[in-house]
Amino acid sequence: MIICKGKAELQKMREANLIVARVLNHLGTLVQPGTTTIELDSASEKLILKMGAQPAFKGYHGYPAVLCASVNDQIVHGIPNDEPLKEGDIIGLDVGVHYKGYCGDSAWTFPVGEVSDDLKHLLEVTKESLYKGIEQVTVGNRVSDISSAVQTFVEGHGFSVVREFVGHGIGVSLHEEPQVPNYGKPGQGPRLVEGMVLAIEPMVNSQGPGIKVLEDKWTAVTADGGCSAHFEHSVAVTENGPWILSELEELSERSLSA
Ligand code: MF3
Ligand code: CO
Repeated sequence: MIICKGKAELQKMREANLIVARVLNHLGTLVQPGTTTIELDSASEKLILKMGAQPAFKGYHGYPAVLCASVNDQIVHGIPNDEPLKEGDIIGLDVGVHYKGYCGDSAWTFPVGEVSDDLKHLLEVTKESLYKGIEQVTVGNRVSDISSAVQTFVEGHGFSVVREFVGHGIGVSLHEEPQVPNYGKPGQGPRLVEGMVLAIEPMVNSQGPGIKVLEDKWTAVTADGGCSAHFEHSVAVTENGPWILSELEELSERSLSA
């Protein structure tokens, strides 16, 4: 069952997701050679609590940290550790919170210092594929119109999309129906109706789409050792089109008044 949200609920989800956006924005300023992902984890926990929210990932199915921090060939669900980031790395940071009874969920991949042109391209294409997916978030479209837009854009640039992890509905729970794959033919799956909220999260590999999960049972890495990027926004379906709940100030306020 897909749970649709009313105006007041969407407003609370905007608040939850704005907290996530602010945390990610702050973490972006801390990402540099020498920083450890454990430091990013404590910084995010402090900030989340200071803003009156609770971390949503810690303890979720036993996940041991506040953040998911996925470096280079790690795709998602990297567990923060004390290894310093190096110049030329890329790091995907995924943040989730509970606030006023609702969840916020968003992820961003950052370059550490100066990175290669190939990695810059991977980050650009992955971010752009998220926005290609978001463009499909209009009343009457179907879920797989999002999936297909993401896949077509990514593969058109010679990269591949991960199949084993998907986007999801979000609301009172972190993961609600429907699943939002990053691949598939258009015109399939549930129709989008006003009040649905979807976390759209392309995971894009520089080489093949295959994955492995490490012995820690969480960290997903590319099977072929290529690098991987991940961008995620929580997006509401409105009569005026997509409302990106996890975008920092300007853009979302614009869609609010649109
Ligand atoms: N954004 C990810 C997701 O939606 C993060 C979940 S990590 C977990 O699946 F620890 F909470 F599982
Ligand atoms: Co998510």
